[in-house]
Amino acid sequence: MSADQPLYHIGFGRRDLGDPPPTVALLSGDPERARQIAERHLRDARKLSENRGLHSSVGRLPNGRPLLSATSGMGAPSLSIVVNELVQVGIRTIIRVGTCGSIQPHVRPGSVVISSAALCRQGAANDIAPVEYPAVADPFLTVALAQAARRLGVEHHVGITASVDTFYEGQERAASANPHLLRALRGITEEYRRLNILNYEMESGTLFKMGGVYGFRAACICGVIAQRTEGEQVVLEAKAVAVENAIRVALAVAEEVAGEEGI
Ligand code: URA
Repeated sequence: MSADQPLYHIGFGRRDLGDPPPTVALLSGDPERARQIAERHLRDARKLSENRGLHSSVGRLPNGRPLLSATSGMGAPSLSIVVNELVQVGIRTIIRVGTCGSIQPHVRPGSVVISSAALCRQGAANDIAPVEYPAVADPFLTVALAQAARRLGVEHHVGITASVDTFYEGQERAASANPHLLRALRGITEEYRRLNILNYEMESGTLFKMGGVYGFRAACICGVIAQRTEGEQVVLEAKAVAVENAIRVALAVAEEVAGEEGI
């Protein structure tokens, strides 16, 4: 299939992206976040597709450069399909804009975590590279995210993320429909805390490995919406601020990067 034609899962092709086409994408897990980025922050935003609920829009940043706002869906299998197709249509820089749960007392709800690398406990990634292959973010994008966060006055943390396949079992949640947490997962959050891992989320590890293997730039910024040193629940009051902080920082870097690429 030519990447000019709409691709099967994302529902759009290279030809739909306009001229000049975007090479930079912000990738949200939640389609509502992808829509919000496009509608609130991009000029001349145009919806490309809502195939399978995966909202994608293209629009222009304040400096006039094109940006794609797309949806990965929840978890690494869905992300791997979307990212593969985004690269087929010409995307070369992907910044994941997500949410996460803190596992360190000093990483508070409302702040953001910028992942320098991931402990990748994800099955999808094993189809792409050996388990030992490093799940590491693009260092330049990561520094740019930290600098933008500082400039914008956003409370931020840079470090290692635990990227796992499940929200409940894999993140050691006892309050779920499954009363039988595997022995191998009991105590894992405390172990990760001692290993100086900052947070849990569900997509960055596979994204980073794909970036390494395919040769595109990948980074991840997540708003902190749960504080696992205090409880298992999402702190709903912190969500709007956390997500808006992540979006503002990601957009600032998208603008710098799209400018650098001269597109
Ligand atoms: N996303 C996750 O994967 N875990 C959390 O606790 C919150 C958001």
